[in-house]
Amino acid sequence: MSGPPKILVFDSGLGGLTVFSEIAKLRPGADYVYCADDAGFPYGAWKEPELVDRVVDVIGARIEADRPDMVVIACNTASTLVLPDLRTRWPEIPFVGTVPAIKPAAEGSRSRMISVLATPGTVKRDYTQNLIAQFAAHCRVNLVGSTRLARLAEDYMQHGVARDEEISEEIAPCFETRGEARTDAIVLACTHYPLLIDSFRRLAPWSATWVDPAPAIARRADQLLFERFGAETRIGAPPHGRAVFTSGRAPEESLRETLYRYGLLTT
Ligand code: DGL
Repeated sequence: MSGPPKILVFDSGLGGLTVFSEIAKLRPGADYVYCADDAGFPYGAWKEPELVDRVVDVIGARIEADRPDMVVIACNTASTLVLPDLRTRWPEIPFVGTVPAIKPAAEGSRSRMISVLATPGTVKRDYTQNLIAQFAAHCRVNLVGSTRLARLAEDYMQHGVARDEEISEEIAPCFETRGEARTDAIVLACTHYPLLIDSFRRLAPWSATWVDPAPAIARRADQLLFERFGAETRIGAPPHGRAVFTSGRAPEESLRETLYRYGLLTT
């Protein structure tokens, strides 16, 4: 292999940047392609068979174009559904997924009342139900499927506007009480949501732990890179790579600047 390993990071939109930025912290010397399937956004309401085909097609095109050494599916809605298909199709490429962090939330909850905030697709998945059965059987698990938050996070990233009233309405169902007990851990099970974490904290009716799996995903990616390529790319400096959009639309100036701050160029 010539040059540093190439890592493809994929999401329906800009949410995967929350995972990308954690990986880039551990592996600043790697070469990245960030792919946003903005033409297919949002994924939350897609029917499962169509979404499998869509993600396999988009990833297939990127594999052809970029020849990545690793692919990170920085999207819960896709990972909870298509990882087996992707791994079967490209067995030579390591795929790192992003799935709801139900285990650490259940382990850390004192009240044993946790909420999983995700897209409508992710809350419906068998994969999510299995995680609950496996790791959170001792908890009350409140699944909250949000139809608007991913879009609100995109708007925030693209125009810098956080719409408090709508964000409050979307997170309100996460906060439950039962007698004296109340929800104390909320899983951020969509990669877009950590983009709004400051608003979530400010607008929450009480303080709870917001569980973001991105640092753990980054550690997993780092470990796999270490096994294949060693430690070399743990040192490096931005820019780290480029961002591509399936719509082919050129991002507006403000978004180009935001991506640049993440170390990504747009071509
Ligand atoms: N960022 C994605 C996730 O983690 C999905 C957002 C969407 O397309 O609705 O689930």
